Amino acid sequence: MKVFIVGIAGGVGSRLARLLTAAGDRVDGLYRRPEQGEHLATEGIHATHGDLTRLDAPALADLLHGTDVLVFAAGAGGEGGTTATTAVDGTGLTTAIEAATRAGIHRLLLVSVFPEAWRGREVSDTFEHYIDVKKKADAELAATDLDWTILRPAALTDTPGTGRISLAPALVHTDITRDDVAAVLAELVHTPQIHHRILELAQGPHPIADAVRRQTRN
Ligand SMILES: NC(=O)c1ccc[n+]([C@@H]2O[C@H](COP(=O)([O-])OP(=O)(O)OC[C@H]3O[C@@H](n4cnc5c(N)ncnc54)[C@H](OP(=O)(O)O)[C@@H]3O)[C@@H](O)[C@H]2O)c1
Repeated sequence: MKVFIVGIAGGVGSRLARLLTAAGDRVDGLYRRPEQGEHLATEGIHATHGDLTRLDAPALADLLHGTDVLVFAAGAGGEGGTTATTAVDGTGLTTAIEAATRAGIHRLLLVSVFPEAWRGREVSDTFEHYIDVKKKADAELAATDLDWTILRPAALTDTPGTGRISLAPALVHTDITRDDVAAVLAELVHTPQIHHRILELAQGPHPIADAVRRQTRN
């Protein structure tokens, strides 16, 4: 299977690339800073240099030849303020959807966020904007004819993965390791019968393969 990861050098994207490469999948993806490509190459991961905000859909589609699954794991991450969030998390997804459609790719997995993340806390206008853009991106993808899956992880941590999670259409917002998010995405990539689903992901008691398999029955 060939998987293209937009945001392949990111915390989640790079972990997913390693897992898929180890599983024997062909991996490519978009990274923004030149040194990231060198780093990925030392791990045997091929990736493509490019800035999502500067690529139009035809240009991105040209990079997607032979792709079976497109994973969108990019995000501005607060860097560059609301303008960057709109450009990467919002317009960037629009470009990815159009590119997937042009390239004849049916499956798109989107890494999103709990819309109610950090309710009850004082959050900045920038954070509210981020949540708004992410929710609109979910809605845009859900309205397409693609075989989409939207994964909404809880707050991301860099502690080692546990391999145990909760995965369901609705969960209480807690946290989840980036290792476990990547492992869930890898499992979803290999579970094509799951599509047209919004799944929330948080720490929990269930082994990842079991939790994903359970979603094939719903
Ligand atoms: N942080 C949280 O608690 C949390 C919770 C739930 C969901 N999420 C979502 O989870 C996703 C992945 O998170 P993460 O921790 O892996 O984020 P990350 O480490 O910041 O990775 C995102 C990647 O996107 C890349 N990117 C940004 N702008 C780009 C552009 N214009 N062109 C190409 N690539 C670009 C970044 O490149 P650079 O390396 O050059 O910056 C980075 O490598 C994000 O969409 C985030 O919104 C985050």
